[in-house]
Amino acid sequence: MAERVTFERGALRGDVRVVGDKSISHRALMLAAATPGRSVLHGLNRGDDVLATRDAIVALGAHVDDHDAAVVVEGGSLASPAQTLDARNSGTTARLLMGLCAGRGLSARFDGDASLRRRPMERIARPLRALGAEVRTHAGRLPAHVRGIAAPPAGDYALEIASAQVKSAILFANLDAGAAVRIAGDSFTRDHTERLLRRFGRSVHFDGRTIELEPGRLVATQLRIPTDLSGAAFFLAGAALVPDSDLRLRDVGINPTRTGVIDALRAMGAHIEIEHERDLDGEPIADLRVCYRPLHATTLAGELIVRAIDEIAILAVVAAHARGVTHIRDAGDLRGKESDRLTAIAQTLRACGVRVDEFPDGLDIEGGRARVPRGTLRTYDDHRIAMAIAALAAPTGPHAVDDAGCIAVSFPGFVPLWRGAQTS
Ligand code: S3P
Repeated sequence: MAERVTFERGALRGDVRVVGDKSISHRALMLAAATPGRSVLHGLNRGDDVLATRDAIVALGAHVDDHDAAVVVEGGSLASPAQTLDARNSGTTARLLMGLCAGRGLSARFDGDASLRRRPMERIARPLRALGAEVRTHAGRLPAHVRGIAAPPAGDYALEIASAQVKSAILFANLDAGAAVRIAGDSFTRDHTERLLRRFGRSVHFDGRTIELEPGRLVATQLRIPTDLSGAAFFLAGAALVPDSDLRLRDVGINPTRTGVIDALRAMGAHIEIEHERDLDGEPIADLRVCYRPLHATTLAGELIVRAIDEIAILAVVAAHARGVTHIRDAGDLRGKESDRLTAIAQTLRACGVRVDEFPDGLDIEGGRARVPRGTLRTYDDHRIAMAIAALAAPTGPHAVDDAGCIAVSFPGFVPLWRGAQTS
């Protein structure tokens, strides 16, 4: 049933701890499943995407004990599943697990919900075929079949697109390669897989262009997972936009491949302090304090897009309330996310009276005139659009949305946490 929610106007104040990092959670579960012995994961994201990964690794033969405090995974002996692996709404689940199966001699059928069935899978299938696996897609999309090979030969790869999912699928496919594997052409995509591989005992090098994974074995580990900057971003934006806001976000991952949103908000005039920088099991984290300041337009393009790939919707919302015209370019890949995010953002902002010009790879957004929409806004069944609307409403609301149920994909508990910050 559709979950209609109204987001109110109001400043954000106090202390907030958002959910665990989704990208790291997927990878930690998969690596724990691939590793002999018992790995213990603290602070895992419990959104539906990560639960899809949890259920898929169980179907592949991992043993998972899911307690409140920690998730314990016994891995190492995976087998081809009898049933289809259902990635539901989660691109990361489908793409990374296709890689894992391809290099472990596993055969599996992959499928997902209607949204995931629209998303491109050939970008994963091509490098896995180069490795020797058999991969069949349905006109480049799900459902897909993977018939993997055991002990893949070492090889050199070049990334066709700046995608951490493609890079990670190749790394996961080569965990059992007998010699060093090189992937050339990486530029600013998130490096959580590389960091986690080191945590699980492997040697991975990066010289700024090429990643090299040395042969070796995986060693079970204990891991604490940072809170998710991509979830924190909605709170950062909301507090930056509303007078009287003063908010602190705790234990947030500030991996430099993910901090494009902080750089972009600062370029728009936002006041963000990075406090208590420290290391959490191989990932940099900090507390982030954000206060209201009047904001102005900027240009978002190039490497910044890669480092803020999941934050363009929320940055567009900030642009809608900032002074001047913000230009977003080089963001065509957003058309293949959980929704066509460029069109979804453009329609949402236009429904609030904002002038938006749409281009194949971006948007021009004229800020400063956003107002309360006449009707209910659509979330396009896209969690990041739904949460961006919460921040869109914060300076000018109320804004009602047709269905906030999709938020549970990445951020269960978002609505009460947001309302709590608005009333503290
Ligand atoms: C992700 C990588 C990004 C991002 C997605 C999560 C990951 O996708 O948009 O939400 O965990 O590797 P691409 O690698 O396709 O850009």
